[in-house]
Amino acid sequence: LRVVVLISGGGSNLRALLEECRDPAFPAHVVAVGADRAADGLAHAEQFGLPSFTVPYSSYASRDEWGDELLAAVQQWQPDLVVLSGLMRLLPPRVVEALAPRLINTHPAYLPEFPGAHGVRDALAAGVAQTGASVIVVDTGVDTGPILAQERVPVLPDDTEHSLHERIKPVERRLLIDVVRGIAEGSLRLGSASTPLTPTPP
Ligand code: GRF
Repeated sequence: LRVVVLISGGGSNLRALLEECRDPAFPAHVVAVGADRAADGLAHAEQFGLPSFTVPYSSYASRDEWGDELLAAVQQWQPDLVVLSGLMRLLPPRVVEALAPRLINTHPAYLPEFPGAHGVRDALAAGVAQTGASVIVVDTGVDTGPILAQERVPVLPDDTEHSLHERIKPVERRLLIDVVRGIAEGSLRLGSASTPLTPTPP
């Protein structure tokens, strides 16, 4: 399964996926890494000898123009799956429609709880005892797509946004790897954009 990963930040989830791909038995491989800015995480692509590309959001007059450029850059790698892993930009609807349903996103909360760019901070502010991690199919909403996998993560009384996020990320990575494996093996079928997902029991 040919995978393109898009990031904006440190790419710890990307790194975990790249390390898993080292296992020849893992049925997917990352063919390129893209970013909307000079993301630190692009260094992981370099370390793994992978091509990378940057489509800087700030270089375009509109989200749509940026989106069209990003879509063209992604499609040149002919991915079977596009993974958003810490991409901190909303994709324009026409980009989502061009890629979905083979377009998934990791989110550091137990969706539909705490969607959006500050899921960890919002959970902490809400004073909940547990939050979580989720992997979803991207749709044109904000973290509203069908849930492929999710797991609860406890919030501790003395948690900061950072400590809570660092506890969530390992769970996110494991869920992401399991979902990519499931998609590659066909055990997790991504319905067409209109029909709901039908994850077959393992
Ligand atoms: C991840 O928790 C991702 O779900 C969220 O931002 C974080 C990115 O972390 N959108 P990293 O760049 O993978 O370290």
